[in-house]
Amino acid sequence: MTEIVPGGVASDSAANLLVVPVFADLTWGPGAEPAAEQLGPWLTGYLEAREFTGAVGQFVVVPGGDLPFGAVMFVGLGDEADAESLRRAAGAVGRMSAPYPSAATTLHLVDVEGAIGAVTLGYLLGSYQFDAYRSEPKPRANERLELLEADEGARAEIQDAAAIARGVTLARDLVNQPAVDKSPVVLADRARSLSDNIAVEILDEVESAERGYGGLLAVGAGATNPPRMVIMRYEPNGAEPFVAFVGKGIVFDSGGLSLKPATAMEDMKSDMAGAAAVFGAMQAIAELELPIRVLGVAPLSENMPGGAAQRPGDVFTAYNGKTVEVLNTDAEGRLVLADGLGIAAETGPDLIVDIATLTGAAKVALGTAVGAIFGNDDEAIAAVEAAAKFAGESMWTMPLERSYRPLIDSTVADLKNTGDRWGGAIIAALFLSEFVDGRPWVHLDIAGPGRAEKTEHYVSKGGTGFTVRTLVELAREMAKKG
Ligand code: BES
Ligand code: MN
Ligand code: ZN
Repeated sequence: MTEIVPGGVASDSAANLLVVPVFADLTWGPGAEPAAEQLGPWLTGYLEAREFTGAVGQFVVVPGGDLPFGAVMFVGLGDEADAESLRRAAGAVGRMSAPYPSAATTLHLVDVEGAIGAVTLGYLLGSYQFDAYRSEPKPRANERLELLEADEGARAEIQDAAAIARGVTLARDLVNQPAVDKSPVVLADRARSLSDNIAVEILDEVESAERGYGGLLAVGAGATNPPRMVIMRYEPNGAEPFVAFVGKGIVFDSGGLSLKPATAMEDMKSDMAGAAAVFGAMQAIAELELPIRVLGVAPLSENMPGGAAQRPGDVFTAYNGKTVEVLNTDAEGRLVLADGLGIAAETGPDLIVDIATLTGAAKVALGTAVGAIFGNDDEAIAAVEAAAKFAGESMWTMPLERSYRPLIDSTVADLKNTGDRWGGAIIAALFLSEFVDGRPWVHLDIAGPGRAEKTEHYVSKGGTGFTVRTLVELAREMAKKG
């Protein structure tokens, strides 16, 4: 990962590339005017010829001329900068600075609260690459970014943002990993290398049966790779507030016997994005040493149609004792989450948050940029909304419409796992609400934003690490309230 450091004045920098911001209509941002003046009168005409308008993340690179830099990049910030436009601009810069061994910037000198963190996070996420499966990694020479004229106090802000970026990066890497290399056993093992401050318990299929994780075992039955329940605890001394994160960890979702069509399976290695977000958030929270207890639960399973697979019409008993008739084996996320939520509820947290690529319906409703929020507690929902907003992750609250609850009444068991065709994301949320024992709970359906279709600003095609930043921010706020 690129090292980001506080720097001095531009004239003393030894960086190869200088990056300066420009607002809409070519209004110079901090540091841009002196650079433009030194470059010469041709510059504005050149920027205009390149149709540079100063839109967020748009950029043009010119030779450094008499400046002590080989090249100068002008990057757009739009009409008025805020934390998100800074992240986006820095994301574009992070990606485009790949060929330059070192860069220096004044982007963070824009008058925005938290600018240093926003630039750090955007830059690191924008420079993300997943090269593990290429015979030659995509070249990236960039090793260093100087934040010009930042004081020493900036170091702490940089460290904070870098810890979050590492959490997001971890989640992206896990999502991008092919399913063949992240069986539940392998993925569970990754939890052990998160942080020394996180205690990890892994339950295998035998222990899961003893404990009564009926949903996990039902989903895992059709796969050759056995399921695992991962329970992680971060418990710093003296911390009172207590939050539980539960992440859907379907390492591959074929649909099971209710088999998906081939094209619908192409992205289903991403069906563990919720669990990946829990891994990433817990790692960042531990690294930041936030004074809050965090329980992380990741039910990991592969949903396959093998000979031992659960059949439509089968009934299992979930960890909390409720019986569930499985009519569609492709509605599997809610089954493993039923056990995960039961485990979380039992430990008595102040708040439970689950994260899941749960329904195509949520993706249809909100698209790929926005996550769906559901919950049983207005205060908890408001806290998650605020955290998401602050973190710059777009989410929208949907209703937990109780009048739909009869749709998941079963003729043979306590519940069935599918309702009817309409309101699929709500029905899934109502199903989950049966397993939280009435505790404050928020459900994040990230079927859309869990992966990105295209590379853009600080997001790259593939796994996004969506919700890691929100979960860290939520933990930070809960820790503050004590
Ligand atoms: N993992 C899928 C949901 C999904 C779909 C995530 C597309 C990301 C992109 C989930 O397990 C699923 O298959 N849900 C079904 C539920 C249905 C059978 C009630 C769905 O949404 O079609
Ligand atoms: Mn499914
Ligand atoms: Zn799924």
